[in-house]
Amino acid sequence: MSELNLILLGPPGAGKGTQGERLSEDFGLPYVVTGNLLREAVRDGTDLGHKAEKYMKEGELVPDEVVVEVILERVQSDEARDGFLLDGFPRTIPQAEALGEALGVLERELTAVLAIEVPDDEVVRRLSGRRTCVKAGHVYHLEFDPPKREGICDQDGSRLVQREDDREDVVRKRLREYHDKTARLASYYEERGLLRRFDGCRPPAEVNDHIRATLATLRLEERL
Ligand code: AP5
Repeated sequence: MSELNLILLGPPGAGKGTQGERLSEDFGLPYVVTGNLLREAVRDGTDLGHKAEKYMKEGELVPDEVVVEVILERVQSDEARDGFLLDGFPRTIPQAEALGEALGVLERELTAVLAIEVPDDEVVRRLSGRRTCVKAGHVYHLEFDPPKREGICDQDGSRLVQREDDREDVVRKRLREYHDKTARLASYYEERGLLRRFDGCRPPAEVNDHIRATLATLRLEERL
């Protein structure tokens, strides 16, 4: 397996960001976080930000035509030549098809789709306690994964805040969007033999161990 081309799939609050940060470090992969790219664009008032803002505030998916081009640019960039880790993309079948086509043109393939599974009630509990740093979006939880100093990011010392879309009513809307539009990607990728499922209710370090073990097995199988 010369390159690792990975997707993190799962409902809001499944722990995609928590695992993504660790995996990109573990494997030295460029980490493309769609939600962070969009939030930065909103914060900077760019054209992309203006197009995305109202959907994000309401907990709805941003239209495919707005998102696809931005993410494919990253996948096709030199930085991602030896592999990538996508978090939050694709989220619809048309997005998955666009990614498949773009990789086909580059004569590349996905290695695996890592699906982190967590029930809806747990999602609501997690997101109400989540805090993220203003500088780089590093993720904490008041109860399950608190920072060493209250309100301060361990990694870059910036302030920790609650995301606007982590209000319970917006979280429930995000979950509806997930079940309506994104959950079907699990069967889409299962049919293509790419899906690997993980119990996201285990502690973060255990989920990370399980994912790493799965990727090690995939690498081993390739050599046999
Ligand atoms: P995005 O930012 O991608 O949000 P999301 O998918 O809803 O995911 P989250 O970031 O909320 O959760 P996560 O799974 O990363 O969990 P985390 O690790 O933080 O998208 C935001 C918006 O952007 C969307 O609503 C949409 O509008 C738009 N958008 C994005 N991509 C798009 C696309 N492709 N197309 C269209 N629109 C798009 O963990 C959550 C909490 O739980 C944390 O506090 C963490 O510390 C804790 N935790 C994590 N793991 C565990 C564990 N194992 N046990 C206990 N606690 C844990």
